[in-house]
Amino acid sequence: MWDDLRPVGRHDATGGYRRFAWSSVDHTLREWFAGEAAARGLDLTVDRNGNQWAWWGDPDRPHGGGRAVVTGSHLDSVPDGGAFDGPLGVVSAFAAVDRLRADGHEPARPLAVVGFTDEEGARFGVPCVGSRLLTGVLDPDRARDLRDADATTLADAMRSAGHDPAHLGRDDDTLARIGSYVELHVEQGRALVDVPAPVGVGHGIWPHGRWRLDLAGEANHAGTTRLADRDDPTLRLASAVLAARAVAEQHGAVATIGKVEVTPNGTNAVPSQVRAWLDARAVDEASVRAVVAAVGTAAAADPAEESWSPEVVFDEPLRDQVAALLGGAPVLPTAAGHDAGVLAAAGVPTVMLFVRNPTGVSHSPAEHAERDDCLAGVDALATVLAELTGDKQR
Ligand code: GLV
Ligand code: MN
Ligand code: MN
Repeated sequence: MWDDLRPVGRHDATGGYRRFAWSSVDHTLREWFAGEAAARGLDLTVDRNGNQWAWWGDPDRPHGGGRAVVTGSHLDSVPDGGAFDGPLGVVSAFAAVDRLRADGHEPARPLAVVGFTDEEGARFGVPCVGSRLLTGVLDPDRARDLRDADATTLADAMRSAGHDPAHLGRDDDTLARIGSYVELHVEQGRALVDVPAPVGVGHGIWPHGRWRLDLAGEANHAGTTRLADRDDPTLRLASAVLAARAVAEQHGAVATIGKVEVTPNGTNAVPSQVRAWLDARAVDEASVRAVVAAVGTAAAADPAEESWSPEVVFDEPLRDQVAALLGGAPVLPTAAGHDAGVLAAAGVPTVMLFVRNPTGVSHSPAEHAERDDCLAGVDALATVLAELTGDKQR
């Protein structure tokens, strides 16, 4: 599976992946997912919001064991992302199905592998679009009208990719199939290096969000305009960047301005406008809000909230059961967002498994996980899925 995925959307100059929702690269990834499902005789469904599901067992007629156990992740990436964030969860899910079959396991509950659409929000700005639409926390009209850097709407991008955006929105039929969700993911810090352990269990996700800062200025000549006569919005951007760092430190938070658009983006022109995006996260919502307010003040701007992800604590009994099943695996919090968080917030019993990342680097071409740790992740996932699905024979 890794051999197939390796070249898809890889940018040669950086070695990073550019796998954006509803692009031709995304199409190739979807075909790959469909192929892996077909190769295993799993029934492929695509829900109203474009999420892909590969079913082992009939999701609407469970064998008596209850609603489905779902596992998977996403295949899209941030700009120049690593190979593992997302795909590790999908590849491990298919590998765990293979392992369960090799072991002769016959799940009493249906089991599904899911590929969620547009988890990173790299193209249209809002993360976890597939799971937010599924659970009804993202308004379908707003989703259809989200725009990428070329002003293409999500609706048009979806249509060009052969999916009808008319039916986006909360999908009770699909939700009714899900009994629990298990997402395996590469760790995005060094927590498992310090323990040390190859696999950990998620405790919860910090509250976090994304805000846009629109900073207007006055276009002018870089040589002839006296400093005193300038209205240069990059100065307010600089204040915002420095404030984000300083205020985050005060609150034990993290804050990042990682995306900026400068208009007209000319070396010898004072810009007419800067648009910048702030990502802020902390252990509690009040700290996040304090950071965002302070950055807004520093930039003399009113930050426009583009997405908000409330604090999530994963289902405690499920988390404890899984940690015990895995021999007392360490339980860790994360400040990264996941579809698992969206499903958990919607009331689905959800748990996450994290696979050790030797450097902790993520959202970068340098993101890595060792093969043995990935295999330990598959073992752990198969163990959890065997337990949660139950066996028809036993
Ligand atoms: C997703 O990876 C996020 O945390 O931004
Ligand atoms: Mn990510
Ligand atoms: Mn991810």
